[in-house]
Amino acid sequence: MLIRKPSDIRSSEITPLRAYLSRRAIMRGSAGLIAAGALGGLSLAAPLQTVKSDLTTTGETLTSKDDVTSYNNFYEFGVDKSDPAENAGPLTTSPWTVKVDGMVAKPGDYAFEDIVKPHAIEERVYRMRCVEGWSMVIPWNGFPLADLLKRFEPLSSAKYVAFETLVRPAEMPGQDSSWPVLEWPYVEGLRLDEAMNPLTLMAIGLYGETLPNQNGAPLRLVVPWKYGFKGIKSIVRITLTDTQPPTSWNKQAANEYGFYANVNPQVDHPRWSQATERRIGESGGFSAPRRDTLMFNGYGDFVASLYSGMDLAQNY
Ligand code: MTE
Repeated sequence: MLIRKPSDIRSSEITPLRAYLSRRAIMRGSAGLIAAGALGGLSLAAPLQTVKSDLTTTGETLTSKDDVTSYNNFYEFGVDKSDPAENAGPLTTSPWTVKVDGMVAKPGDYAFEDIVKPHAIEERVYRMRCVEGWSMVIPWNGFPLADLLKRFEPLSSAKYVAFETLVRPAEMPGQDSSWPVLEWPYVEGLRLDEAMNPLTLMAIGLYGETLPNQNGAPLRLVVPWKYGFKGIKSIVRITLTDTQPPTSWNKQAANEYGFYANVNPQVDHPRWSQATERRIGESGGFSAPRRDTLMFNGYGDFVASLYSGMDLAQNY
């Protein structure tokens, strides 16, 4: 059900992102000419040239683009599901720089364009499961995190990858709140072998277009066998380290949200069961029959070996 065998990917299908990247450059130029406010609410949605991936979920109905882009968690823009779509438009995503540091041979401040340029952009349909008990099926566009990390040449001492989201209260009203839900920046992390797993994606788009701001523009993580909160959005820093990095939800409530956060129907959240889920957009809404949640969200063939010998009730 999960994996489509590689259909022949012709090199002609692999189109560089030149058009999109040059459009970003034009935007950057115009930003100097047009007052920032005049650009408010403008979020670039550029078409992406993508290649087929052999790592894609097939046979499941896609969640509509409307639901994917309007039912979000992105606490930097507010706590309600509709807040990110309402408030994230004015976020400036060009220019965008990602700091790469820690245990790598090639640290540096990399422009978004340089991060993306060498990679073919794949389309990967992934089943996504939120810790709150809902799920979606999303056609992401991106490239393997492994391919990106290899370019920075991790040192043999590196054991984990830490990620950080932008802090910009002027454009992120949730960071400006007198009642912050989380400590900023939003931080996340993976073990290095999880980060290098072929399923782990750096996404720059969905539905064949660049990411809307509410979905984590311009660059976010997608880890389909883990609960959605591992998918940190609008990344500005990637650090290779030898110690397990702190993660936002674990800092907020360690007894509820662990570092691993693997989808696991057998380990309940302390306040609710994780055995079933509601697929967003299915007819019947909240009263639609719930589906059984699958171990590792159905991706066990690819990732179960990462956790052999580990007690997944302890390491939740
Ligand atoms: N990243 C940041 N920076 N801030 C957030 O609040 N929320 C997480 C994750 N990444 C979040 C974040 C949670 S709880 C979920 S379920 C997913 O983003 C939702 O991603 P989506 O909007 O693409 O569905």
